[in-house]
Amino acid sequence: MADRVAIFDTTLRDGEQAPGYSMNLEQKMRLAKQLELLGVDVIEAGFAIASPGDFESVRSIASVIDHTTVASLSRALVKDIDRAWEAVKEARKPRIHTFIATSDLHLKYKLKMDKQQALEQAERMVRYARNLSPEVEFSAEDAMRSDRGYLARVVERTIAMGATIINIPDTVGYTTPDEMGGMISYLMNTVPNIDKAILSVHCHNDLGLAVANTLAGIKAGARQAELTMCGIGERAGNAAIEEVVMGMKTRKDLYPYELNIDTKQLYNTARLLSNITAVPINPSKAIVGANAFSHESGIHQHGMLAHSETYEIMRPESIGIKQTTMVLGKHSGQHAFNHRMKELGYELDAELSRKLFEDFKHLADKKKEITDRDLIAMMESGTQSSPQIFELDNFVVNSGNLMTATACVTLMRSGKKMQAVEMGTGPVYAAFKAVEKIVRKSFVLDDYQLRAVTEHRDALGEVLVKISDAHGEYRGRGVSTDVIEASLLSLLSAVNRMFEANESQMEQSSDHSGSEKAKSWEPLPADALERDMKVTGTVKDDVSKEV
Ligand code: KIV
Ligand code: ZN
Repeated sequence: MADRVAIFDTTLRDGEQAPGYSMNLEQKMRLAKQLELLGVDVIEAGFAIASPGDFESVRSIASVIDHTTVASLSRALVKDIDRAWEAVKEARKPRIHTFIATSDLHLKYKLKMDKQQALEQAERMVRYARNLSPEVEFSAEDAMRSDRGYLARVVERTIAMGATIINIPDTVGYTTPDEMGGMISYLMNTVPNIDKAILSVHCHNDLGLAVANTLAGIKAGARQAELTMCGIGERAGNAAIEEVVMGMKTRKDLYPYELNIDTKQLYNTARLLSNITAVPINPSKAIVGANAFSHESGIHQHGMLAHSETYEIMRPESIGIKQTTMVLGKHSGQHAFNHRMKELGYELDAELSRKLFEDFKHLADKKKEITDRDLIAMMESGTQSSPQIFELDNFVVNSGNLMTATACVTLMRSGKKMQAVEMGTGPVYAAFKAVEKIVRKSFVLDDYQLRAVTEHRDALGEVLVKISDAHGEYRGRGVSTDVIEASLLSLLSAVNRMFEANESQMEQSSDHSGSEKAKSWEPLPADALERDMKVTGTVKDDVSKEV
């Protein structure tokens, strides 16, 4: 039994499939590069046949990744496998990952096949894929609810056809650790040619057991784990990379296996995912949540001061959280700035370093001390990859408890200024209505969250919004010392994503961006604004008092 567990990352496929986590090509490429830096063994870059966009992202990722295997998912169908191969064939290490369901339920109701037919299809398609690709992985979808004897037969035959990785998914998150361990041991002991392949586990989290099931599978002999960053994925998600990896590292006594992961990249990878998708990391999230290493109770603090191991099983540094008391200020120069950014794990090219240093100087004018968290927030907003269709030019808001809030917002689009004035029950509401009026497209504000990035009164405020239209959901993030500005920036990044996602709407709107038309656009009917701007989200943290 190999003593190494391969980490197969499916953040860009199973993770991206989850509502609210869709990413554009540039975002996927950035994340893929970071996953390579993290040291995952395989990046499942997408499901090539799902759409031309998916195909393009798998192909592009395959062409930029240096030494990590790049896989594409495909059903056990010739056209899927051809498309998957077309997308990954330029990778240094390509892999086709093909699957067919094996449970009675899926066979009967979804595939309308009997067991023999599905077995033969799996055999044919693995052989077909193996003729194209040097490496083929086969997954038996819904394996954990499949008849064991039949599953063992499918595993044996697909190995005989050339699959060298056999994945056992708990597709619906139904299994328990004992069952998963039992299944892997059973396959290890029953399948005659099992030494020709490695077994893999892929666990969904519907019962909150994905990580426990993955670890049980590894203990029983699985040598590949399919995981996603922060556990994102279908429904309740997949097993989280950071939890499985730190579980194995921290309990090496139980899991004495080698991993290729550079755990110091875990924190930055989680932050990048959150930044790209504008989905905040739950503060209580194990390993990478903001509270994962903070100790509130007096007893714990006392213990920590006496000896950190009294209440801490991992060091924050081990996942890449840098502890420093060093602060930068307006007298800090470019050199000190670059040095600190490097220590925080960011390699900046000359242009980005110049741009961020300018942002830093502006911030230092408003804020006396710039901490690491400020720098991280600045870095994240300075490298946001939402399209720049509408940009904030300026805004003025008037509000108070004796008046109706009014906002005058000016946006830029293709070099032209567009302005609107709106009133609302609060300054954020009024400002959002003005944006909606300018972009001439209504949307529902599903969620609005405001939090302070750092502790002090002059803290940077971070706003995360989620909006939706008939076609989907779009998230945005904005950071500023001014919470109205942060709110507008986050709304604009979501609005820009909405426009990007719907090209026909973009076209329609660009008809209005000519100077004549820009002057003469009609406001949306007031009742439409009232209807669509229902604020259903939560406003969090103390800074909200300013809203
Ligand atoms: O959950 C699942 O069964 C899957 C397979 C397609 C691997 O994602
Ligand atoms: Zn899955």
